[in-house]
Amino acid sequence: VPEIGCLSIIVLGASGDLAKKKTFPALFHLYCQGFLPPNEVHIFGYARTKISDDELRNRIRGYLVSERSASPSNDVSKFLQLIKYVSGSYDAAEGFQMLDKEISKHETSKNSLEGSSRRLFYLALPPSVYPSVCRMIRRYCMNKSNLGGWTRIVVEKPFGRDLGSAEELSSQIGELFDEPQIYRIDHYLGKELVQNLLVLRFANRFFLPLWNRDNIDNVQIVFREDFGTEGRGGYFDEYGIIRDIIQNHLLQVLCLVAMEKPVSLKPERIRDEKVKVLQSVLPIKDEEVVLGQYEGYRDDPTVPDHSNTPTFATVILRIHNERWEGVPFILKAGKALNSRKAEIRVQFKDVPGDIFKCKKQGRNEFVIRLQPSEAMYMKLMVKQPGLEMSTVQSELDLSYRQRYQGVTIPEAYERLILDTIRGDQQHFVRRDELKAAWEIFTPLLHRIDNGEMKPIPYQAGSRGPAEADELLEKAGYVQTHGY
Ligand code: BG6
Repeated sequence: VPEIGCLSIIVLGASGDLAKKKTFPALFHLYCQGFLPPNEVHIFGYARTKISDDELRNRIRGYLVSERSASPSNDVSKFLQLIKYVSGSYDAAEGFQMLDKEISKHETSKNSLEGSSRRLFYLALPPSVYPSVCRMIRRYCMNKSNLGGWTRIVVEKPFGRDLGSAEELSSQIGELFDEPQIYRIDHYLGKELVQNLLVLRFANRFFLPLWNRDNIDNVQIVFREDFGTEGRGGYFDEYGIIRDIIQNHLLQVLCLVAMEKPVSLKPERIRDEKVKVLQSVLPIKDEEVVLGQYEGYRDDPTVPDHSNTPTFATVILRIHNERWEGVPFILKAGKALNSRKAEIRVQFKDVPGDIFKCKKQGRNEFVIRLQPSEAMYMKLMVKQPGLEMSTVQSELDLSYRQRYQGVTIPEAYERLILDTIRGDQQHFVRRDELKAAWEIFTPLLHRIDNGEMKPIPYQAGSRGPAEADELLEKAGYVQTHGY
C-alpha cells in the first residue's frame, strides 16, 4: 500500500564522490519514473562545505544525465529544484538543528496531503562519522509527526575493518536505531542478475536436483576490473581488495548461490538462510589463498611506499554442510587486470562412463554474467553438425541485450533506494549477516595486516599472479575455451 505524506530524503556527504556519482543520479532516475512525486518529496543535501543550493545543484547536474537516461533538460532542472542544501559539521548540534528546521518547513508546507512524514537519511560518508551522525539524527532530526511515518538510515560499506570494529559500530548504531530502521547497502544485491539468482535456483526444475555436491565440482565467483585504484589509492590502501570486494560483494553472491530454499520470500526468511550459509563456512586455509599487488600501485602518491595491501586475491571458501561438503567456492577479485567482468561460474562434474571420450573438450558449466552485458549461458556438449559422430562444446545462451531489447535494466542504487523508501529489507545486510561475514575473513585479514602474508606482484593489465591460476586448477577447475 503506498504511503501517503511527505518524504524527505537527506543525503549526508552531499558533495562527496558517492553522492554525486551514485546517490543523486539514482534519485534522479527514480524521479523521472514517477517514484518521487514532486508534491510529496523534498531532497536535502548536507555536508561541511559552505555552498549555496545552486552551487550544489551545479555540482550534481553533470552526473545526472547518463547514456541510459536521455532525459530532457527540463526534467533535470525540475529535479534539481527539489534539492536544498544545508551545511554543518557531522558532530555538532547546530547543523542538525538547522537541517531539522528545513525538513520540518517542507513537511508543514506539504501537510495539505494530511499524511505521515517519512525521513530517509542516506549516509554517503566514511564510517568513522557514522556514530556521531546517527547520534545527531537521533537527537535532533527524527520524524515528529503524530500522524505516523518513519525515520530510516542508509549506511554504506565498509562497515568496520574487522569483526571487532564492525561489532562496535553495529552496537553504537544499534543503541540509536532499531534493526528495521537500518539499511546496510551492498550494491551488488541490487544488480539484476544477482536478484535473479533466487528465481533461477528455486523456480526451475532443471536446477533443483543438480545444485549440490553430487553434481557440482566447483563454483567460481569472479570480479575483475581493468583499471587500478585511480585517485582512490589512499582509501583503498586502508582496506584492500578483500574488504573492498570479497568480504561483501562476492560473499553476498555466494550466499545466494549456496543458501537453502527459504520458507517464504519474506526478507527475514531469506536473510535467515543467508546467515546459515555464512555460519557454515570453514576457516580459510593459508594454502588456499593467493594475494597479489599490481606493479605501479605504490606509485600513487597517496599509497605508502611499502604497502602490503593486496589489490588482487583468490580465496577458497568451503561450506561445511550436507549440500556443499567438498565443493570449493573460489572467490576471486582484482584491480588492474586484463578485463572488466563480474561472473559466477558453476562447473559440473565429468559425466561418468564417458562413451564419447569428450572429457577433454570441457565440462558442463553454467555461467551467469553480472556485468558487463548481463547474460547467462550453459556450456554443453552437442554433436558436431555433419556426417561424422563427433562432439563439440556449445552454448545455450540468454543474452539480456538480445532477449530483452528495449528494456532498461535499472541501476543497482536506484532499486535499492526505492526499497528503502518502500521498507523492504530483503536486499540489505542484516546485523548478524554482517557479523558472520566478518568472522570468515577477520583471521586472514589480521595476518595480512601483520605482514604475515604478502601479495605477489603482477603486471597491470594481466590475468593476475600465475599462482592464482595454479590454485584454481588444484581446486579442480577445468579451463574450457571457446566462449
Ligand atoms: C565498490 C568498490 O564497492 O564497487 C570499488 O569500493 C569497485 O572499488 C566497485 O570499483 C565496483 O562496482 P561495480 O558495480 O562497478 O562492479
